Amino acid sequence: KKGSETKLVGSPDQFTKSGFILAAIGSAVGLGNMWKFPYITGQYGGAAFFLLFIVCLVAVGLPVLLAELSIGRGGRGNASSSFVKVGGHKAWGGMGLLSVIGAFMIMSFYAVVAGWTFHYAVQAFSGKLFANDDFGGQFSSFISGYTPIIWQAGVLIITGWIVARGISGGIEKFNKVLIPGLLVLLVILMVRALTLPGAEAGVEFFLKPDFSRLTPESALVALGHAFFSLSLGMGAMMTYGSYVDRKQSLGAATLAIGGGDLLYAFIAGLIIFPTTFSFGIDQAQGPTLVFIALPAAFSAMPFGTLFGGLFFILLAIAALTSTVSLIEVPVAYAIERWKMSRNTAVWIIIAGCFLLGLPAALSFGLVPGLTFGGKSFFDWMDFIASNIILPLGGLAVTVFAGYFWKGIGDEAGLTGLWFRVWLFMLRFVAPILVLFVFLHSAGIIKF
Ligand code: PFF
Repeated sequence: KKGSETKLVGSPDQFTKSGFILAAIGSAVGLGNMWKFPYITGQYGGAAFFLLFIVCLVAVGLPVLLAELSIGRGGRGNASSSFVKVGGHKAWGGMGLLSVIGAFMIMSFYAVVAGWTFHYAVQAFSGKLFANDDFGGQFSSFISGYTPIIWQAGVLIITGWIVARGISGGIEKFNKVLIPGLLVLLVILMVRALTLPGAEAGVEFFLKPDFSRLTPESALVALGHAFFSLSLGMGAMMTYGSYVDRKQSLGAATLAIGGGDLLYAFIAGLIIFPTTFSFGIDQAQGPTLVFIALPAAFSAMPFGTLFGGLFFILLAIAALTSTVSLIEVPVAYAIERWKMSRNTAVWIIIAGCFLLGLPAALSFGLVPGLTFGGKSFFDWMDFIASNIILPLGGLAVTVFAGYFWKGIGDEAGLTGLWFRVWLFMLRFVAPILVLFVFLHSAGIIKF
């Protein structure tokens, strides 16, 4: 171990400097970058949407990220107690608890989709995926059967196994290998995609903005996604922040995490869009894009079995580095609040996520009656966690950091102009925009 990465006395388990950056990038980079970002970019305006996403990421996402990290490190507690420990009223702890519940909920259905990617990786490498070219039929018969439950359990068990090993020996170790590994896979797939015939049209769609494609909704989706993509509003960054050494610069970390998240989304776009354009696939088809349209493309390209397999492995790894951060939120809470051992906390919470995720996994057709009010159980969980709890959690962070915690500048390490700009974003810009996202996604305001 390098001398500069010594551990703090009195904190038995915390990240090293580089370990923290990689783990936080691991949390940020996930299905959001590889699965959701390409399809919403396809639906909400292509390059113009991408630009809007970058603006939201920088102007709102980064300030809130720095605030979350500061609250976590300042309080050195879980996503609820940290608020109280840095001097907040108990009510703030209540808001924090909402994020703990949100992380638990996101984890429950995120593990279902993560499970799909594992299944697809195995199917692609074994060649089974390409033996029958009805990819839509394959996908719907897969998600409406029992197999997803096995993979969902698999994802949860791997996640539990990593998190049970602790911060430096589990979460950090694992991210230090997988995040660089992910970059290698991304670059290989990007080179493959960019050298396909007709790839330029995809690059143009992704990088040459046509602002007439934007709608007011694009802006809200871009902002909501900036939050989701940076893992904000769910206590994940706050919990990771509580394991950061006091000497590490949180401002620099914020830039590195934001840059990492953007880089991985950018490369994912440079894989998906050239590929879909090259094979004449509609890139605005939504969530099924990577599971139905891309297998068709892989099956038609040379060495498609290999590239298809690598692609789904990539999704699976990206998902795992996020699930470990999601589960750490309730785990940290349970350890501190109920004095549980890490091991007990991990496996109880993993079992809980499995049970809550079960109806989500089964709501794609196997069990009738899991759809109500026009949404499946899966969609309801996503809706409540991503559209209600996440913006409320984000709002709590900005308002607390902007108005209530006087010592935040010291913890964040910002002074002078940068501090004033940051405070301005936290006080005025972020809360108003997040409130709009919330009111719109909760269906209270409509365009
Ligand atoms: N940022 C992750 C992604 O883009 O897939 C998802 C996520 C992880 C959201 C952790 C929230 C969270 F707390």
